[in-house]
Amino acid sequence: MIIQPRTRGFICLTAHPDGAHQAVKNQIEYVKSKGEIKNGPKKVLVIGASTGFGLSSRITAAFGSDAATIGVFFEKPASEGKMGTAGWYNSAAFEKEAHASGLYAKSINGDAFSDEVKKETIELIKKDLGQVDLVVYSLASPRRTHPKTGVAYASVLKPIGQPFTNKTVDFHTGVVSDITINPVENDEDIANTIAVMGGEDWKFWIEDLKAAGVLAKDVKTVAYSYIGPELTFPIYRNGTIGQAKNDLEATVPVLNNLLKDLNGTSYVSVNKALVTQSSSAIPVVPLYISLLYKVMKAKGTHEGTIEQMQRLFADRLYTENGEVELDEAGRIRVDDWEMADDVQAEVAKLWNQISTENLSEISDIEGYRKEFFNLFGFEFDEIDYEKDANENVQIPSIE
Ligand code: NAI
Ligand code: NA
Repeated sequence: MIIQPRTRGFICLTAHPDGAHQAVKNQIEYVKSKGEIKNGPKKVLVIGASTGFGLSSRITAAFGSDAATIGVFFEKPASEGKMGTAGWYNSAAFEKEAHASGLYAKSINGDAFSDEVKKETIELIKKDLGQVDLVVYSLASPRRTHPKTGVAYASVLKPIGQPFTNKTVDFHTGVVSDITINPVENDEDIANTIAVMGGEDWKFWIEDLKAAGVLAKDVKTVAYSYIGPELTFPIYRNGTIGQAKNDLEATVPVLNNLLKDLNGTSYVSVNKALVTQSSSAIPVVPLYISLLYKVMKAKGTHEGTIEQMQRLFADRLYTENGEVELDEAGRIRVDDWEMADDVQAEVAKLWNQISTENLSEISDIEGYRKEFFNLFGFEFDEIDYEKDANENVQIPSIE
């Protein structure tokens, strides 16, 4: 079928399999161009492996240090004239490229929050790898069904305490407007968001993996967090999602304790704000990202998910002397270039000026838009989008 982008709000309803393959190839090329990550991981489980930071973590592990990878995600294959999701096509492309390079790569498509998928993953590790030495936890989801109680939680993206008014952009139309987001009405919204995006499921994974004996000695596990600038604090770090990130970060000492006898370590890495399916859903943030991109590209410090994950692995998690640099709160920071004083000062200055009229001039809204469509396999020069594409792409390891 001919596949073109079709959007509704901040989501893209279509995805292009060949474009997704191109995106994966580009990421692989980047990792290879940076050379081997010495002391890198060898057997890796990535939970949330099909898009965004998780996909880039998987690619970095596989093509940076020849790691065997198992990827867990929740995606849809094509069915009855409907195309598959971007993450499905990404994972198909990843497996094919990994296999062509002689690397082990298998995937599990299902609800990572469930006990069943955890069991299935453990069985696969036992059968094929024995143990894993790195577990990447990169889920982003609006809902979670609790595996023990069956309660279904939905997260919300809201401020806490008072309403938050600031500028936001509709990146399809380029209209900048003020948005007011009302605060949570009760503590339940906060608790629900923590239940979905906090640390409990990460803990459940590590507990189950450990109990099954599939974690190697010296195992590492890493999950991803975000802080960002003051201007997004009310909606991000001090909002409901920030409470979930606090909970995720507070899980680190719990897991360190659990992993002590394996000499294992758990980390939270604070990553840069980037265009992903998840971040495009947060009000205000896409406009901030458009300005951030403009400033960082001008300084030559701009990174995408693959540059971030390659740097996380090579310069933080797997350094040659084995030391992992942490901030005062014990977190890895690869948002350091985003948070640099000069970058933030320039973004803050532009933030005060930004309007519909000067959007394309003083922000990188074009770059934001392009990266958004790239997430779904669109706007790659190498792909002819007028040509028939085969949407029925299979992931080799999934029947
Ligand atoms: P994403 O939306 O690109 O990736 C989410 C992944 O989770 C996908 O592989 C998806 O299939 C998987 N997933 C979602 N629900 C699932 C379920 N029930 N079962 C199995 N798999 C499921 O998100 P992104 O942006 O890469 O986020 C990953 C982590 O990085 C999140 O913790 C996010 O908060 C964090 N982060 C994101 C930043 C950003 O600007 N995008 C910045 C800093 C941190
Ligand atoms: Na991810």
